[in-house]
Amino acid sequence: MITATLPAPRNMALVFSLIFLFAAALLSLVSHEAQAQPVAQAKAMLPDTLAERTLACAACHGKEGRATPEGYFPRIAGKPAGYLYNQLLNFRDGHRRYPQMTYMVAHLSDDYLREMAEYFSSLQLPYPPPQATSAAPRVLEKGRALVMQGDPARKIPACTACHGEKLTGMLPSIPSVLGLSRDYLNAQFGAWRSGMRKAASPDCMAEISHKLTPDDIAALSTWLASQPFPEQMKAQAPKIAKLPIRCGSFPQ
Ligand code: HEC
Ligand code: HEC
Repeated sequence: MITATLPAPRNMALVFSLIFLFAAALLSLVSHEAQAQPVAQAKAMLPDTLAERTLACAACHGKEGRATPEGYFPRIAGKPAGYLYNQLLNFRDGHRRYPQMTYMVAHLSDDYLREMAEYFSSLQLPYPPPQATSAAPRVLEKGRALVMQGDPARKIPACTACHGEKLTGMLPSIPSVLGLSRDYLNAQFGAWRSGMRKAASPDCMAEISHKLTPDDIAALSTWLASQPFPEQMKAQAPKIAKLPIRCGSFPQ
């Protein structure tokens, strides 16, 4: 009696092939349906605010583009839009090399990059305190003097002449040099000297970097990274008619 309720082996094969056919039909139905509305679905899933579109950036640059001074990743929030835009173009077009950044912007249009630059520039956030330093006072004084006065004998202009008297940058395209880590600052001077980072010609920062010795760079990076920020971190409006040396990335 029991054997009679079990399907015969031949029937078993039939049942399996029926199940298979049914599953296959179901699958094709599902995928067909999915194909029918891919565009509408993808559109509904695409983030529509810049805050959402730029979430990927926060993985490295910190929440809303505000990095800490301890890490390597530079802060981008609040920097002049013209400066941020130039950097995004530079990474995309190979004038500034850092593989992870190039990857992020490789296929984005000028308009998209400009929108992101304006978005991050518009964020005004409080800043974390500066890096503690155990550097010798002699080193700090050398760094301070270079930043504030330059070295006329070697034709090195004061950094304040272009980055603003409070070092918070100058509109539209010179960034602040405060709130950046020592490692990041050192790496930028290294990159200008080796040609890994370039700005529009004449590239004033490359010129200045070549005049600085490794000791100068160590001193000014240490001093800059240890400075407290002024309450107002906004870049100042251009005050001087002419920069001490010409910079291709600064309209004059
Ligand atoms: C995987 C980590 C990573 C991600 C993700 C990332 N960045 Fe960066 N970004 C970096 C690093 C590292 C640098 C500094 C590179 C260097 O040393 O030149 C940088 C530099 C920059 C700079 C130049 C800052 C300056 O002060 O010169 C801008 C602007 C920037 N990133 C924007 C973005 C935007 C916008 C996004 C999102 C679309 C993004 N980044 C995503 C790692 C990242
Ligand atoms: C003649 C004008 C000028 C002088 C003087 C000058 N800078 Fe700059 N600096 C610029 C410009 C323009 C840029 C933006 C370059 C670009 O678009 O990549 C810049 C960018 C920088 C950056 C990049 C910041 C970032 O977020 O990546 C650093 C760091 C810097 N300058 C440090 C200094 C220091 C330190 C001095 C003094 C020794 C100095 N600069 C003197 C014009 C100047």
